[in-house]
Amino acid sequence: FNVPTPANEPVKEYRPGSPEREALKLALQDFRSQETDIPMYIDGQEVRSDRKLRVAPPHDHQHTLGYFYEGDSQHVNQAIEAALAAKDAWANLSWEHRASIFLKAADLIAGPYRARINAATMLGQSKNAYQAEIDSACELIDFLRFNVHYATDIYRQQPNSSPGVWNRLEYRPLEGFVFALTPFNFTAIAGNLPTSAALMGNTVVWKPAYTQVLSAKVIMEVLLEAGLPNGVINLIYVDGPVAGEVIFNHQDFAGIHFTGSTGVFQQIWGTIGANIHKYKSYPRIVGETGGKDFVLVHKSADSDEVATGLVRGAFEYQGQKCSAASRAYVPSTLWPAIEARMKQFLGKMKMGVTEDFTNFINAVIDEKSFKKITAYIDEAKQNSQVSIVSGGNYDGSKGYFVEPTVLKVNDPKYRTMCEEIFGPVLSIYVYEPSEFENVVKLVNDTSPYALTGSIFAKDRYVIEQVSHSLQNAAGNFYINDKPTGAVVGQQPFGGARASGTNDKAGSALNLYRWVSARTIKETY
Ligand code: NAD
Ligand code: ALA
Repeated sequence: FNVPTPANEPVKEYRPGSPEREALKLALQDFRSQETDIPMYIDGQEVRSDRKLRVAPPHDHQHTLGYFYEGDSQHVNQAIEAALAAKDAWANLSWEHRASIFLKAADLIAGPYRARINAATMLGQSKNAYQAEIDSACELIDFLRFNVHYATDIYRQQPNSSPGVWNRLEYRPLEGFVFALTPFNFTAIAGNLPTSAALMGNTVVWKPAYTQVLSAKVIMEVLLEAGLPNGVINLIYVDGPVAGEVIFNHQDFAGIHFTGSTGVFQQIWGTIGANIHKYKSYPRIVGETGGKDFVLVHKSADSDEVATGLVRGAFEYQGQKCSAASRAYVPSTLWPAIEARMKQFLGKMKMGVTEDFTNFINAVIDEKSFKKITAYIDEAKQNSQVSIVSGGNYDGSKGYFVEPTVLKVNDPKYRTMCEEIFGPVLSIYVYEPSEFENVVKLVNDTSPYALTGSIFAKDRYVIEQVSHSLQNAAGNFYINDKPTGAVVGQQPFGGARASGTNDKAGSALNLYRWVSARTIKETY
């Protein structure tokens, strides 16, 4: 297992005039100037249906980026058949051969495909260049390289043997196919879910969100160029419930690798439970789901650090990170300084299209999301117990633009402090320092989620006490930092409670779920 030692992919800066900025501009132009054809990929072949759906940039929804082909239950069945047909050859290929395909894919993204995949993410999902770079380039490359490294940790683990007895653990893939069901908000997650299961010898049916199909196509191009055999990962665009109806009734359904909202995951879990007698094996259910991520500020904190953490944590990628700071608890003694500093930052923040490299804020993903977010803002405007500290305006005429909005709430259990909004809305409860212990309890009890959270404090006793009291309130806990931006290989990512099964993407903990070990005792 002498695999190359992974290192995190360095983040490029895209400074004006830099070669990477020029390459990215060309790739953006390329996508902008033509209508991209986005087929499904089943058994390594491009598949088109007679139902073409339009893809538009969320920040310019009248522009057509291309068309993808929506499949039906027949395509789901074809994808399952292709995955099952490819299964034995793929599982029997030596692990090194499987791994080298994903290492090659990482190098292709780091090199010739970097501009293309970032441009697809910028246009299709409305990320600015920096947000695209840390996602579709660096994080995806890191997933591909680090997973190979973590897989070796698994394969190396063997039981003890004794004279005359040789015990071994054989890490077989699951029996059947794996279903990867992926969200719109991270190209890296969409790429990681099918590839991590495939690395461990499984074959996969992958259904991305309809709002991520442009970058999904680029991922598939990369994988096929890297030498992925036909049928190992089959990419289909099928309505979720239609795909689910076929997949969750299939006897060879062996596991789901899901990232998305809590409601969808719970529904899927229920369906799998109801069908459990139909499957050959108990399916693996791995899901990373929603969040209501907190920032708890103690009176000993540095107000500048807090303001930076709140603004970056809440508003990068328009608050559409599962990890985004969306509720904060700030002591009254620090609030004036934090409020002033946040307003200063927000006042300078530009909002607009992704292709203008100076915009920090771009559009939210689609009309449905725009309506959901702005309904929360409208309701807050009507509520005398809520004040708008900053933002509150929106305009969906050209693109789905929502200003970064900071709400100050009198009731720490007001709905924007509890529910996942998934947009650029940060709710703040200002408390009296004497209430601190009670506020820690509120952080723990206010929402059903436990994905990410931060404590800002300089007092070491407070940090220790809060870390202990909130040990189940966040799968990723940050001390004096924003709750976003986990890096593969550094902060394995995942939440508990209503936020998921906490199988930590980008770690051996996740890869273990995609093997079904056989113990062999040989007496000689
Ligand atoms: P979503 O739940 O709407 O969709 C996720 C996937 O499920 C998509 O492919 C979608 O088409 C499919 N789907 C939707 N309804 C379905 C159904 N009834 N049956 C089968 N499939 C169905 O999520 P989204 O809007 O794409 O992503 C945002 C959500 O994902 C947020 O809740 C966010 O917190 C969460 N998320 C969590 C993490 C994490 O690591 N915990 C990471 C990223 C996103
Ligand atoms: N890596 C992403 C973050 O932590 C999910 O924000």
